[in-house]
Amino acid sequence: MSSGRFITLEGGEGAGKSTQVAYLVAFLKSRGIQAVATREVGGAPGAEDIRQLWLSKPQGYWDPLTEVFLIMAARREHVKKTILPALEAGIWVISDRYIDSTRAYQGIGLGLGIDKIDSIYHQIAGDFWPDMTLLLDLPVATGLARMAARSGKTDRYEQQDTSFHETLRHAYLKLAASEHSRFVTIDAACDAATVRAHIEKAVGNLIEAA
Ligand SMILES: Nc1ncnc2c1ncn2[C@@H]1O[C@H](COP(=O)(O)OP(=O)(O)O)[C@@H](O)[C@H]1O
Ligand SMILES: [Mg+2]
Repeated sequence: MSSGRFITLEGGEGAGKSTQVAYLVAFLKSRGIQAVATREVGGAPGAEDIRQLWLSKPQGYWDPLTEVFLIMAARREHVKKTILPALEAGIWVISDRYIDSTRAYQGIGLGLGIDKIDSIYHQIAGDFWPDMTLLLDLPVATGLARMAARSGKTDRYEQQDTSFHETLRHAYLKLAASEHSRFVTIDAACDAATVRAHIEKAVGNLIEAA
């Protein structure tokens, strides 16, 4: 049995990550591929416990490096308890956010530096990286308008101001530009069906290669 593939979705709030993760799992299943959806921060029991602790405090409560260690501790649980066992069982894993969120937010946005983030990541995951990262890119105002239209609770990242969201958008684009083989940048400003079609085309190529 061949191992599964690990695909991550990244992008700002309202980009459509959660929507497209669900579509992608359904698409893979329709192609006869076992697939599971997961998310960060979280995705394993201990990781969800850390998420609760992390989100229970107001913005600015955590020192940025402390925040990185909390997130990386959760990621370690996620990788060890959820992602790797699934991949080894031949199941494809689709994650709503992963390492590039930490690189963009804490590495670039909060100024810790990508090298520092990558070095801590190496401690918890070695050379394990996603096979494909789908960056859902859209203007900040479009994403924020979608979030405003949606009812429900806001999360840690949704409470940031607009200029920080702009910084994050450009951080993600910079990360994508520096790693062409892993990233696929998708125009997420169009309707959900169009975004879905672009994602299915990109993932279709990965299926062919599998
Ligand atoms: N392509 C799209 N066009 C318009 N609205 C969208 C699109 N994709 C998702 N939405 C809506 O925008 C909101 C945010 O989508 P969501 O998938 O939760 O984004 P994210 O997980 O990236 O924050 C939801 O109300 C969702 O139904
Ligand atoms: Mg979401």
